[in-house]
Amino acid sequence: MYTSRIAGMGKYVPENVVTNDDLSKLMDTNDAWIQERTGIKERRHIKKGDGNSTAVMGVKAAEIALDRAGISKDEIDLIIFATLSPDYYFPGCGVQVQDMMGIHTCPALDIRNQCSGFIYGISVADQFIKTGMYKNVLLIGSENHSGGLDFSTRGRGVTVIFGDGAGAAVLTRSEQEGHGVLSTHLHSEGKHALELSLKGPSTNHWVPQIIEENPQEDIPYYPYMNGQFVFKNAVVRFSEVIMEGLKTNGLDVNDIDMLVPHQANLRISQFIQKKFQLSDDKVYNNIQRYGNTTAASIPIALCEAWEEGKVKEGDTVVLAAFGSGFTWGSAVIKW
Ligand code: UT7
Repeated sequence: MYTSRIAGMGKYVPENVVTNDDLSKLMDTNDAWIQERTGIKERRHIKKGDGNSTAVMGVKAAEIALDRAGISKDEIDLIIFATLSPDYYFPGCGVQVQDMMGIHTCPALDIRNQCSGFIYGISVADQFIKTGMYKNVLLIGSENHSGGLDFSTRGRGVTVIFGDGAGAAVLTRSEQEGHGVLSTHLHSEGKHALELSLKGPSTNHWVPQIIEENPQEDIPYYPYMNGQFVFKNAVVRFSEVIMEGLKTNGLDVNDIDMLVPHQANLRISQFIQKKFQLSDDKVYNNIQRYGNTTAASIPIALCEAWEEGKVKEGDTVVLAAFGSGFTWGSAVIKW
């Protein structure tokens, strides 16, 4: 039986740093509120003309991941691209990456599972590798949030949280049992779909209708988030799905060497850390510097943790995410 392991990781964030003070010049917010409620100090935003887009950033992260994995683009069997902010309504970013990187006619698949997108991607990659169908999968999570946020005071409850960036992983076949991706656990609960959503333009709410209605409130083309409701669900689901992953593998919280939670809000990560009584060196957070980068947050954080030597050979690494859908999931990895 094959298993899959992460052979290389890469990340890319735009150079343009946007501090909380920068945002307070555009809307009624302040550094103290943002830091107290979210832990965020700054985030990166694509700057007009810097050449970046969701797909472009994905390529930059992917090139580093491939290089570190020692795998050439010609050896990729499948591209998976997770994002909620694609360059085009269709086609997806996966095929753009394929074109930009000059990758042969392997399949390219986009995943629309927002904050859980990267975990869903790991799970899909893992299934294809385990069955023997594919050997090398390029998995990318990338977001261009800044292109679609409301920078007036009306949008402050959402806009201050999100940042741009990309992370990538190369998953490859391994025959070493007990190593690599041990298990993945996916869930969703569609009844809460609109609690964190961007409703339009969509095929049942298309551009001419939006223009005609000219809404001043509940603007469909800006994201909506019922923040407190999302927060309450997040802490419950994060805990559940981490425990599910540990139990499946006969592990408990003391076996975790590194927990990399989706960087939704530092307060959520701290809640989980406290609940599981994990020491600071066992939970990786970088939301302070990048904000919430949705599908990119786990690969950026995991990549940095690895670069800093905090994820080492033999470590038990747990990834967990919760977000729009609602969707949530975890992955347990023996590094
Ligand atoms: O990654 C996807 C999953 N997403 C999440 O997990 C996010 C979960 N939710 C959250 O992180 C938090 O709910 C937020 C950080 C989004 C908001 O924090 P909160 O403590 O839930 O604040 P709130 O929305 O209840 O707002 C409290 C007050 C309100 O004012 P009043 O009504 O009390 O006068 C807001 O209008 O804070 C106000 N407010 C702000 N003030 C300054 C909202 N946003 C801001 C802001 N700056 N940016």
